[in-house]
Amino acid sequence: MSDESRAAFFDGTAEHYDDDTFHASVAEALVEPLPSGPELVVDVATGTGFAAYAALQLKPARVLAVDLSPAMVARAEAKAPAQDPSGVITWQVGPAVPMPAADHSADVVLCASSLHFLGAVAFADWLRVLKPGGRLAFSVVSGARFRPSGPFAEFVPDDLSFPLDEAGAGALASSAGFVAVTARTFTVDGGDRVRSVFLVHATAP
Ligand SMILES: C[S@@+](CC[C@H](N)C(=O)[O-])C[C@H]1O[C@@H](n2cnc3c(N)ncnc32)[C@H](O)[C@@H]1O
Repeated sequence: MSDESRAAFFDGTAEHYDDDTFHASVAEALVEPLPSGPELVVDVATGTGFAAYAALQLKPARVLAVDLSPAMVARAEAKAPAQDPSGVITWQVGPAVPMPAADHSADVVLCASSLHFLGAVAFADWLRVLKPGGRLAFSVVSGARFRPSGPFAEFVPDDLSFPLDEAGAGALASSAGFVAVTARTFTVDGGDRVRSVFLVHATAP
């Protein structure tokens, strides 16, 4: 699957992406426990920018937000006058693995609702990008519920084993070399539909 095909697929989802508030809730919950005052936060596969904007509550000096889809990034940037009037966030269209950031330059790596499109190779890149002691926060879908099928399945790399429980979610980070790993289940009960993912927080050694 080429990057162009992926970008075209996600471009097609951009217009109505923000109608679904679940992704915003996941991004907020990922950011909420992180310490304030980072120099650089990177948001990997930012989409319409939920995690990048949530990161502003940490009072970062800079946020770098990257996504393959021009239409998703355009939607994200359109919110900047209201949500980031001082221009803390830099938006970039392109592949997020590897992140266009220098080695050991980031204090925080965020990846909300996107690991299943990036695959396990992302972890090595996050170790590269993070400063020692830098923080990683990502969400991951449960293997018990996630059943990609049809054309969508082509977007899902096969190097990632989807966790069945919190221990398995945390093991994705610890087996990649991260330390101080915690994982919890995050659930939103929307009445007609209950959705949940695992939230993982970890530290670069
Ligand atoms: C489900 S959305 C999640 C977006 C956002 N992080 C959020 O929390 O709402 C998945 C995003 O991953 C992006 N994506 C998929 N593969 C990518 C890649 N290799 N590099 C950069 N972005 C990618 C898509 O364009 C899409 O915007």
